[in-house]
Amino acid sequence: MYIAVSGKGGVGKSTLAAMIVRDLIRRGHKPVLAVDADPNSTLGEKLGVGVERTIGDLREDAQKTKYDAPAGTPKQRGVEYAVQNAIIEGRGFDLVSMGRGEGPGCYCSINNMLRTFLQDLAEDYRHVVIDNEAGMEHLSRRTNARVALMLIVSDPTPTSLQAAGRIGRLASELGVVQGTMGLLINRVTDHPIPADAVAATGLPVLGMVPQDAGVLEYEYDSRPLIELPDDAGAVRSVRELLDRYLDARGVDACARIA
Ligand SMILES: Nc1ncnc2c1ncn2[C@@H]1O[C@H](COP(=O)(O)OP(=O)(O)OP(=O)(O)O)[C@@H](O)[C@H]1O
Ligand SMILES: [Mg+2]
Repeated sequence: MYIAVSGKGGVGKSTLAAMIVRDLIRRGHKPVLAVDADPNSTLGEKLGVGVERTIGDLREDAQKTKYDAPAGTPKQRGVEYAVQNAIIEGRGFDLVSMGRGEGPGCYCSINNMLRTFLQDLAEDYRHVVIDNEAGMEHLSRRTNARVALMLIVSDPTPTSLQAAGRIGRLASELGVVQGTMGLLINRVTDHPIPADAVAATGLPVLGMVPQDAGVLEYEYDSRPLIELPDDAGAVRSVRELLDRYLDARGVDACARIA
């Protein structure tokens, strides 16, 4: 199943994507492919793995060398080889970081090959979790075309909720989500959540995640968030969200969507 996390800048997309990867592994739903689709990659840190090469780097290299693959090697094989090199193995998951965007040069054929190959690669995994870059740009690239669960993360402020509503509307217009799309309200405190702003998004609230001091402590200490304890607030809320979602659909149904 494809799970995508979107939302405005800094609302907690990568944090919650890491929590989702953590939870799927704990459930034994392995292997998970984590895709860091944000050029400003941070998912690796949160998952506790170093990122040495991104797909963007590989694309640049390929463009520069014009694929000087050994004679007789089809271009496609060169791309496959490069992508295999960009896969970082973690415990129970693999990570691919997309890196820089497409740039002004014409990388079209390489990009198409990459897209196809990433799609093929995803077939080998039980779940694919995509941490999108902030905003809406990624939606028009249709990299989220087969998404079963699109979580639009927002903090509980009207500005962030408005942005979430815009992302939701564009995603609907473009038809990029096949399954469920809704809000994941992050950093919830005792302060009341503005109900009008939530309603105006037109999105169902799929979950709420508390402001969690543990998350910040781990960040300060440069500890991977994937190591947060089972009883951390953010961990528990994501577990409850996935419990509800997986129960409602049935795990087999999710596997079929994938
Ligand atoms: N539930 C939470 N409790 C406490 N802190 C949080 C929580 N969620 C996110 N944060 C903090 O908010 C900051 C931004 O989080 P994160 O990097 O996940 O956001 P993002 O949406 O991925 O940002 P960007 O748009 O830059 O990719 C981080 O410092 C993170 O520790
Ligand atoms: Mg992020």
